[in-house]
Amino acid sequence: MQPEAVEMELRVNGSTEKVKVLPNQTLLEVLREKLGLTGVKEGCGEGACGACTVLVDGLPRRACLTLALEAEARPVVTVEGLGKRRGLSDLQEAFIEKGAIQCGFCTPGMLISAHHFLQQKENPSETEIRTQLGGHICRCTGYAKIVEAITFAALKLQEQKESSHAS
Ligand code: FES
Ligand code: FES
Repeated sequence: MQPEAVEMELRVNGSTEKVKVLPNQTLLEVLREKLGLTGVKEGCGEGACGACTVLVDGLPRRACLTLALEAEARPVVTVEGLGKRRGLSDLQEAFIEKGAIQCGFCTPGMLISAHHFLQQKENPSETEIRTQLGGHICRCTGYAKIVEAITFAALKLQEQKESSHAS
């Protein structure tokens, strides 16, 4: 027998949405199919590739392994919520500027993880950046440009902090 759908509230990218979900439905399915947030990608569907990474309560989570109901009333951020009010975030710009995107399938998950990482870590070393990318698979870029983009974004963030302290 099919389980019954229940209504829940999802707080995604600053908006609250009421959706009906099945108890066994993943956050990934609900974000993509009910809310149209197709920036969240399904790669492996089993927690191995990182393409579906979103923030839940400020922490990176694999949306393919998270039940939608687990995210009830907790803030969720997808790649669609990373940009500034008008346009892309500095990190997103850095990915473009450094050529860190080819097919782009891994990019949303990489951006979410890197965004979280740069909030925790100022001036990360290359090794630290590579370590934090450990749970993400990119089949196109060879990772070097992604590391370069994150390094560049970290420098930019640092400069912005210094100039805001100086002013
Ligand atoms: S689709 Fe979730 S980790 Fe691969
Ligand atoms: S850019 Fe294609 S998988 Fe990473």
